[in-house]
Amino acid sequence: MAMSSSLAVEAVMMALLLALAVVAAAAGQPTKTVNLTLHNLCPYPVWPLVTANAGVPSVPTDADGEPVGGRLDGNGSGLATLAFPLGPWLGRVVARTGCAPVDDGDGEDDAVVVGRCATGDAPPVTVAQVSVGGPEGRAAYSVSLVDGFNVAIVVTPHGFPEGHRCPTLGCAANLAAECPVGARGPRGGCGGASSSEAAAWFKARCPDTRTNATDVEATPQDCVAPGEIKVVFCPNPDSVAGHHASSLA
Ligand SMILES: *[C@@H]1O[C@H](CO)[C@@H](O)[C@H](O)[C@H]1NC(C)=O
Ligand SMILES: *[C@@H]1O[C@H](CO)[C@@H](O)[C@H](O)[C@H]1NC(C)=O
Ligand SMILES: *[C@@H]1O[C@H](CO)[C@@H](O)[C@H](O)[C@H]1NC(C)=O
Repeated sequence: MAMSSSLAVEAVMMALLLALAVVAAAAGQPTKTVNLTLHNLCPYPVWPLVTANAGVPSVPTDADGEPVGGRLDGNGSGLATLAFPLGPWLGRVVARTGCAPVDDGDGEDDAVVVGRCATGDAPPVTVAQVSVGGPEGRAAYSVSLVDGFNVAIVVTPHGFPEGHRCPTLGCAANLAAECPVGARGPRGGCGGASSSEAAAWFKARCPDTRTNATDVEATPQDCVAPGEIKVVFCPNPDSVAGHHASSLA
């Protein structure tokens, strides 16, 4: 009896919260738009893939209305600004390399349909995990090497209120170039196949990544209400060096 009435109270509370959320959404107040910027500093093109978790709306187009899945040219010229849908979002960003463009039959050379890729379709692949739009605009992000490494990635939030910690996380090192022979992927990349040896080496080399399901970064985060989450492929080596130095000090 007591239990069912507390459940009923809970159900009423949920309905109320939902109604409030709908009213707030109608008034345009729930959360501000958070941008997702993708920047390719690699000396080769990448084909980024932004994938929403199940039950979460996708991030469909960039500011020009181009579908995500297009190519970002190398050496910094490939830059895309997307917008996360309003409300809670979580998902992942990977960079595919060496993709064969497939003609989508519209007579234009836009190569939006991406064929098989040398890396990034399957492990080994570097995965940036991002969530935004949590309670009070909470955001969380990490660069996971659990499935190995194909492209160096760092994540840098911008435009967050003072007093919150939204550090740059990830790793600028090209781990594929340094990869132990036994851990090299058949078509490039490094590690991934539950190689605990590779995981320990990744962690020593890149303390601000996650290398297993319970791992956390050396640098703690407490990120609220960023205006932008920037994901950089092949970042400059000094983009994360500063806080590594300070975390060692
Ligand atoms: C990027 O720069 C490197 C080194 O300068 C060069 O070898 C490469 O061809 C460039 N790649 C692109 C896609 O412009
Ligand atoms: C996960 O990685 C961390 C950091 O290398 C390590 O300390 C921990 O033992 C690992 N956990 C498992 C279950 O492998
Ligand atoms: C998000 O991107 C749009 C389009 O490029 C831009 O107008 C807006 O100022 C950006 N917002 C933030 C918070 O960076």
